[in-house]
Amino acid sequence: MRLVILGGGGFRVPLVHKALVGDGRVDELVLHDVDGHRLAAIRAVLRGGPRVTATTDLEEALRGADFVFSAIRVGGLAGRAVDEEVAHAHGVLGQETVGAGGIAYGLRTVPVARRIARRVAEIAPQAWVINFTNPAGLVTEAMAEHLGERVIGICDSPVGLCRRVAHALGASGAEFDYAGLNHLGWLQAVRVDGVDLLPRLLADPEKLGFEEGRLFGAEWLRALGMIPNEYLHYYYATREAMGGDRGAFLLRQQEAFYNGSVDWETTRLEREATYMAHDREGERDSLEGGGYEHVALALMHAIADDERTTLILNVRNGATLPHLDGDAVVEVPCEVDARGPRPLPVSPLPDHAAGLVTSVKAVDRLVLEGSRTAALKAFALHPLVDSVSVARSLLEAYLSRHPELAYLS
Ligand code: G6P
Ligand code: MN
Repeated sequence: MRLVILGGGGFRVPLVHKALVGDGRVDELVLHDVDGHRLAAIRAVLRGGPRVTATTDLEEALRGADFVFSAIRVGGLAGRAVDEEVAHAHGVLGQETVGAGGIAYGLRTVPVARRIARRVAEIAPQAWVINFTNPAGLVTEAMAEHLGERVIGICDSPVGLCRRVAHALGASGAEFDYAGLNHLGWLQAVRVDGVDLLPRLLADPEKLGFEEGRLFGAEWLRALGMIPNEYLHYYYATREAMGGDRGAFLLRQQEAFYNGSVDWETTRLEREATYMAHDREGERDSLEGGGYEHVALALMHAIADDERTTLILNVRNGATLPHLDGDAVVEVPCEVDARGPRPLPVSPLPDHAAGLVTSVKAVDRLVLEGSRTAALKAFALHPLVDSVSVARSLLEAYLSRHPELAYLS
């Protein structure tokens, strides 16, 4: 089996490689990156496992691919740092995928993601694309214009939430009733043999010591009656979450690796230590089986080996969330096998959550439109940007700082 990683010079590629070595299913791994220097730095860290080739030629990389992991970062971490910096200068949230920062990142990424999707459709129409690239929901939606059901977006946050909740409940084999958009979802029920165990969990503060419990607090979780994705913190505690500089921090840290002054493992350990602690509270729980690479591998197996399983994925809505149209990419539990993923039915979201999902999806769609006017509307209509004149100024500032946004002017 031939697997291609786009963004093959990315810092996390050794983690994917390690998972592949343990797994043994992939015999040929192709790393593609637009930056040959980063590619070589990562290539040099990899030991054992599948035959690895590295190339900066997209066509060569894609030929004969069975699976493509798309994990690119348009503008790099320097771009992420600018996304944060500009937003903060305007007094609004600048997170990687949420608010003004997420819009700027989406505007940079969509044209590139579309171009890649077109190339995959031409060169490797048989391939399944697993999209890791953020903002994952809207990037997957852009790619689906060319790839339809053959592109699937993934994230580690819902699976992490479900794992932590299962652990707190001591439950195995539970069904997770989770729905929303990427980084904007809620766990509404946890059923074992048809019985919902979530009320029991919410009633017991002792059991809520895990990441989301600490982040939101037992009282708020009880009031909601469900457990939000960790990223809802940016909506429920916008003021408190303001001002993180994760992009600038990671940029400094990774520069030291790519210029050869610090080794990969040391850099990784340092990053782990700051996980979540940096611009959010607490540390990431390190329960077994987490991480993007494991979600991606589980998905790849389900498809390649026709091993039917249930995973929370970013796929076209169909009729799953009634307030969104069928082509909207949503994040919901799916049954997956060789035919690909099919969304499973979920409980309807309460109005406040459905409203947020509808607003943010409308903003995503404006980002996808790709015009200057639509970009202005995206900033202005985002629930975390509080003024049209601030939106106008954000757009101007991002246009002047990000050369990739030239297509908008
Ligand atoms: C989680 C999210 C990803 C996000 C990452 C940021 O894993 O699901 O979508 O990119 O956190 O981590 P970082 O270490 O880059 O801040
Ligand atoms: Mn994610």
